[in-house]
Amino acid sequence: MKERIKKLLDDISSLKAANKEELEALRIKYLSKKGEISLLFNDFRNVANEQKREVGQLLNQLKDAAQERINELKAAVDSSSDKQETLDLTRTPDPIELGTRHPLSIVKNEIVDIFSRIGFSIAEGPEVEDDWHVFSALNFPPEHPARDMQDTFFITRDPDVLLRTHTSSVQSRVMLSQKPPIRVLCPGRVYRNEAISYRAHCFFHQIEGLYIDKNVSFADLRQALLYFAKEMFGEDTKIRLRPSYFPFTEPSAEMDISCDLCGGKGCAFCKGTGWVEILGCGMVDPNVLESCGIDSKVYTGYAFGLGVERITNLKFKVKDLRMFSENDVRFLDQFKSAY
Ligand code: DAH
Repeated sequence: MKERIKKLLDDISSLKAANKEELEALRIKYLSKKGEISLLFNDFRNVANEQKREVGQLLNQLKDAAQERINELKAAVDSSSDKQETLDLTRTPDPIELGTRHPLSIVKNEIVDIFSRIGFSIAEGPEVEDDWHVFSALNFPPEHPARDMQDTFFITRDPDVLLRTHTSSVQSRVMLSQKPPIRVLCPGRVYRNEAISYRAHCFFHQIEGLYIDKNVSFADLRQALLYFAKEMFGEDTKIRLRPSYFPFTEPSAEMDISCDLCGGKGCAFCKGTGWVEILGCGMVDPNVLESCGIDSKVYTGYAFGLGVERITNLKFKVKDLRMFSENDVRFLDQFKSAY
């Protein structure tokens, strides 16, 4: 009997099963009620009394070893059959997750596209600027509040190195380096020392427009902006120009478009007025032309500046400006279908 048990112990340690059927056959052979081990237990009563203790221990050992080996084989068979079941070679692959364009880029590209259709090309300038290009050349008087530390991030004082507060600084660079006719659009990031909230941030994006040639008039400005508003917000969009003040334009205006939420009737979004402000504009002040080396008796020009966040908010109804710089994919993913 002992020999038989030892032989079975040996056999069991080298058992193999390639699939569930083979495994079940092994289980029946060794562990079922009529299996080899049960038969040995039946024979146990014939073992001499003085050997019962030793043989009993061996038998229990055998039973445990068999059960353990069968469990091991079962785990191996299960995991390999799992793999077989999930490996479907005919299945089409998962689509590759494409990134999305940032909503500000989508809107900036659209604006650039609209103006390029009427002859505007792109010009860019540095974000780290000096006082002259940002303020002096643009007719800001020395005591103008925009030059204040409260609004402007200075990197050094004397000489003044600062982060540009508007893309109008690119106007002065373009006028210095190009001769009229000039027709440029200057997109870029700008910085202001503002407390961050849902409606203000310390950096945002603007697009500056500048057109200088002989006989450029306010009517040309108005027509270009009307064309832009209709292309951007739809054929039925109306514009209105309100007198305003900027140091670098004379006369200056702010432009409103009819509220596309209520169609101009007045709603909470337009605060009941039917109009929403979208940009500043005007005729380039002769002082600006002169300080940038352009003869103001021969040339005139118009300029405008718009906030990309503002237009994006209008187009996509984003209520909180901070969303644009938080990089939350749940927000950014929503613009997948926009372009
Ligand atoms: N630079 C102005 C700002 O930051 C925007 C602006 C207004 C630009 C009128 C212009 C303009 O070119 O003519 O608010």
